[in-house]
Amino acid sequence: MCFTIWSSSSVCSTFHTPFSFSSNFATLESPRRLPSLTSPSLAPTMNGPTVSVSLNSPQFLARNSFISSSKLKTDTSRRSLGICKCVSSPPAEQTAYTTKVSRNANMAKLQAGYLFPEIARRRAAHLLKYPDAQVISLGIGDTTEPIPDIITNAMAERACALSTVEGYSGYGAEQGEKKLRSSIASAYYKDLGIDESDIFVSDGAKCDISRLQVLFGSNVKIAVQDPSYPAYVDSSVIMGQTGLYENQRYSNIEYMRCDPQNGFFPDLSLISNADVIFFCSPNNPTGSAATREQLTQLVQYAKKTGSIIVYDSAYAMYTSDDCPRSIFEIDGAKEVAIETSSFSKYAGFTGVRLGWTVVPKELLFSDGFPVAKDFNRIVCTCFNGASNIAQAGGLACLSPEGLKAMQSTINFYKENTQIIMDTFTKLGFDVYGGKNAPYVWVHFPGRSSWDVFAEILEKANVVTTPGSGFGPGGEGFVRVSAFGHRENVLEASRRLSQLYS
Ligand SMILES: Cc1ncc(COP(=O)(O)O)c(C=O)c1O
Repeated sequence: MCFTIWSSSSVCSTFHTPFSFSSNFATLESPRRLPSLTSPSLAPTMNGPTVSVSLNSPQFLARNSFISSSKLKTDTSRRSLGICKCVSSPPAEQTAYTTKVSRNANMAKLQAGYLFPEIARRRAAHLLKYPDAQVISLGIGDTTEPIPDIITNAMAERACALSTVEGYSGYGAEQGEKKLRSSIASAYYKDLGIDESDIFVSDGAKCDISRLQVLFGSNVKIAVQDPSYPAYVDSSVIMGQTGLYENQRYSNIEYMRCDPQNGFFPDLSLISNADVIFFCSPNNPTGSAATREQLTQLVQYAKKTGSIIVYDSAYAMYTSDDCPRSIFEIDGAKEVAIETSSFSKYAGFTGVRLGWTVVPKELLFSDGFPVAKDFNRIVCTCFNGASNIAQAGGLACLSPEGLKAMQSTINFYKENTQIIMDTFTKLGFDVYGGKNAPYVWVHFPGRSSWDVFAEILEKANVVTTPGSGFGPGGEGFVRVSAFGHRENVLEASRRLSQLYS
């Protein structure tokens, strides 16, 4: 088959941020539940047996690991694997009919191909060139190990209960089940002054990043670590917060350089006028975690300038040293910060989808309006609550046995990280990250990241991620992910040693 891809709160603080909430909110009435609409297919009609594939789907990503591809050697099985051919269609072929609707100009500003689809495209091209290649992916950063059964059993039980009159439930609270919110508060924010009413359960941190951008609207300027997880920048572009892309960056975004020279913590004095600062620690892609002193500086900076920090702690459970696991460990953070996090990399929930965002009631817009109230309005409008089955899984994750099981999966990935770090260190590379995150950031001085990516793919059949895909500051680096079966990580290390020794 050929896949065609187109490309309530009491206010306890007087601190106000300098920008006001979107005036569009003033016209909103109180939340109402509306019937959900089924979206029509987004794929334009084409001739032939075409299947539209989501950019994140396994078919698109062609994630046949070494193990699975070695089991699938025959032509027939390779066909069933669904190797993806990226076909760019000439415009005339797409459709003869055009609507009167013009394309969102902000979408046109986005650079061709989000990073991971571009990697998938190159990998697919490699597989077409070398159909027998046993490609190992240490690229996208997707989890590989099975979800502990204490967690899947809870989800199965909730799923089965849905078939009973007593156990059936439909729409739940948009903010998430109270029990889960309170478990998140006590598991991750104990003694930090965060309670269940500050927590919004979601279908993942990436989705929350976009909802937060909707909350802020198009008139804010964001700052991001450079390099950083691409969703912050792309959602900013889509919201219309930026100008055009030139010299590897968008205008009206502050790129805060994080490199070995500054210990991967930006010089905050170089930021000019950012309203919202996206800060990820432990960081994807560099793997570095900010210390207590550095986060104290960040919080004090936000307070001085009136900015809001969006702190992404999706990898907090990977922290091995005494770097803070939450921004709310820092005094005063509740007045300046939002935190978003996820079960994706803790429990292998990248497919199950469950995360959360903390918006403290102390966080206020410049006019004194609580940010949490507007976020609640956004959540009630754009989201109908996380899946009840996923939430049952989340609750099981936070039981004493679940926490232990998650930690053991994390430890497994951390051992992988050590194997990758040792490999590159022995080969004489400067290697960063790894200690507090499942990512190893390897320096190839003077070389283009995409060239190194291509070399490793061509000569070792290993997929990595080119650092420049995370921002101009990532040029000259590649990110190697520790998410993989042990045999694959060992085999990839062997091949890399052979390539670079
Ligand atoms: C820094 C960071 N934040 C958020 C996410 C997305 O998390 P989720 O799966 O919960 O959407 C990722 C996923 O790779 C990530 O690296």
